[in-house]
Amino acid sequence: MTSKTHLTEPQGKLENWLDAEREALEQAGLRRHLRTVMSAPTGTINLDGRDVVLLGSNNYLGLSTHPKVIAAAVEATQIFGTGASGSRLISGNNELYTTLETNLAKVKGTEAALVFSSGYAANTSIIPVLVGEGDLILSDALNHASIIDGCRLSRATKKVYRHCDMEHLTVLLSESTTFRRRLIVTDGVFSMDGDIAPLPDICDLAAEHDAMVLVDDAHGFGVLGGNGSGTVAHFGLERTDIVQMGTFSKAVGALGGYIAGSHALIELLINRARGFIFTTGLPPATLAAANAALDVMRSAPELRQRLFSHAKCLKIALIDLGYTLLPSETQILPVVLGNPQRATSVAEVLLAEGVFAPAIRPPAVPPDTSRLRLTVMATHTEAEIQRAIDGFAAVFPEAHYPQNV
Ligand SMILES: Cc1ncc(COP(=O)(O)O)c(C=O)c1O
Repeated sequence: MTSKTHLTEPQGKLENWLDAEREALEQAGLRRHLRTVMSAPTGTINLDGRDVVLLGSNNYLGLSTHPKVIAAAVEATQIFGTGASGSRLISGNNELYTTLETNLAKVKGTEAALVFSSGYAANTSIIPVLVGEGDLILSDALNHASIIDGCRLSRATKKVYRHCDMEHLTVLLSESTTFRRRLIVTDGVFSMDGDIAPLPDICDLAAEHDAMVLVDDAHGFGVLGGNGSGTVAHFGLERTDIVQMGTFSKAVGALGGYIAGSHALIELLINRARGFIFTTGLPPATLAAANAALDVMRSAPELRQRLFSHAKCLKIALIDLGYTLLPSETQILPVVLGNPQRATSVAEVLLAEGVFAPAIRPPAVPPDTSRLRLTVMATHTEAEIQRAIDGFAAVFPEAHYPQNV
């Protein structure tokens, strides 16, 4: 945690200030450690040598271990090798990209699509292309860090509207008519809360005030809408002027971000998006896996049904046990515990019971809202969901009496 006082104090030797930073993180309950996963992200994983039920993966549909997806990745590696060996504008743009972008545009119902190395790269690249100095960004208070970083890079003025608060957004739009361009940006499904942005209202406001809309559908893609195409389809929005960002790293079970939109937009991104231009293309295996996963995703509505059935079952059971959950509408179930130390302690007790439910702390969530962010997968078995519920039942007193944890 870098505090302002550090800027005015002598920094001294590297190891000295590193020690001070580590101590500050420790004191605030915000020090993070890497855990080692020793198996594929299925319903039960081997974590640091122990088998535990996994409630902390974004592999929502279980596609990262789907036989067709794995086979496609292996075949692509045999044909194209392991790396792209160049940026896309030089020699890294193999035919797997063309196939993936064509298929993706079909799924999204847009004219075109462009794949980036990650969702992070997509957000930090597109926002500075859409807006710059003299422009205004209106950003939901709970937007993902990659949006926040994209806003910073753009040098546009940013105003944050209260989470999903359309009255606040209306006021900010009405007050800001002198800017050259205005961009409203929102998560489709909020990554840490699991609720869905009121997109129809946002789009109406954007039309009324002549503003652009960018939706980050990292957690809605594959999950919402008839064939998993995302939040825009979920609301049945026909509008073609919404810029849709998403990622293959979650429900699709691979890696890579994307922007879906008009031909004109994609053309401009190819020419201006720095996170597209100045980086090496994705590995062939990743592109082929994402493409195969898109096919499975479209043709397997039963995966989405299982996902939502598991989410409902876990949610009802936890509420019955007395836990407080945020009003999520999706596969992301946040159990808010307050301070970071408490969230970490409860996560550790749960782990001892055989349940991996990751503690999420600031800056990923606002202060005093540290939580367990539970996610289910279509490929969880009913028995695994029950084991998770049993684990939560066993630690319930600890969760509610923090002095015990
Ligand atoms: C809402 C949201 N946007 C963007 C990203 C970044 O995506 P990626 O992991 O593909 O870089 C994430 C992932 O953490 C996310 O949750």
